[in-house]
Amino acid sequence: MKESFYLTSAKTEDLSAATRASIVQVCLTAHQEEDFRNLFTYVPSGGWHFLAYGDEQLVSHALVTTRWLQPEGGAVLKTAYVDAVATLPAYQGRGYGRTLMRQLANEIEQEYAIACLETDRPAFYIPLGWELWRGPLAGRSEQGLISTPEQHGIMVLRLPQTPELDLERGLTIECQPGRIW
Ligand SMILES: CC(C)(COP(=O)(O)OP(=O)(O)OC[C@H]1O[C@@H](n2cnc3c(N)ncnc32)[C@H](O)[C@@H]1OP(=O)(O)O)[C@@H](O)C(=O)NCCC(=O)NCCS
Repeated sequence: MKESFYLTSAKTEDLSAATRASIVQVCLTAHQEEDFRNLFTYVPSGGWHFLAYGDEQLVSHALVTTRWLQPEGGAVLKTAYVDAVATLPAYQGRGYGRTLMRQLANEIEQEYAIACLETDRPAFYIPLGWELWRGPLAGRSEQGLISTPEQHGIMVLRLPQTPELDLERGLTIECQPGRIW
């Protein structure tokens, strides 16, 4: 990392148009998924963005929104759900993502009881303390539980407020429009 490296965080509603555009660009180039153009349609407000700058440009990003996990037999937990984790390809493998995710974990621990994300790349998160959920997964809807057996790569991060967890038991999350996990 160069000396100009710095980290910051901001709520969605406080982001300038230019920063929003940079975030979309970082996510698009890292993930090659056009749907990131709609990121701020999906999250118009209420998100908490973690931003890493290097060479005076945004190089790494992660987004936290509030969701509600419930481990089987336990209470509903205020959950920091992490999405849109991305580092510009030219800056990957240089420690930006790891440093950003550590900072995120430190900053959320007062406000949240647990953190969660979905990934096809658990190897990046395991050294940072994230654990793959091994038990059955489901969404909680008004009609009851919707099992999601095809869902893989759900990881959780224990925070100081996290109660005792059994990763082999069930885990549910509130259904959102168009999305479970
Ligand atoms: C996954 C991602 C966010 C990691 O960010 P990053 O800034 O590259 O991460 P870091 O440089 O902190 O690397 C952390 C570890 O991952 C490895 N790594 C990261 N990117 C890598 C790459 N492209 N190729 C090989 N190794 C890589 C690093 O070598 C490092 O391993 P180490 O601790 O053994 O040295 C980033 O590579 C990315 O945006 N990838 C594409 C999109 C994606 O897969 N996002 C995550 C899905 S939820």
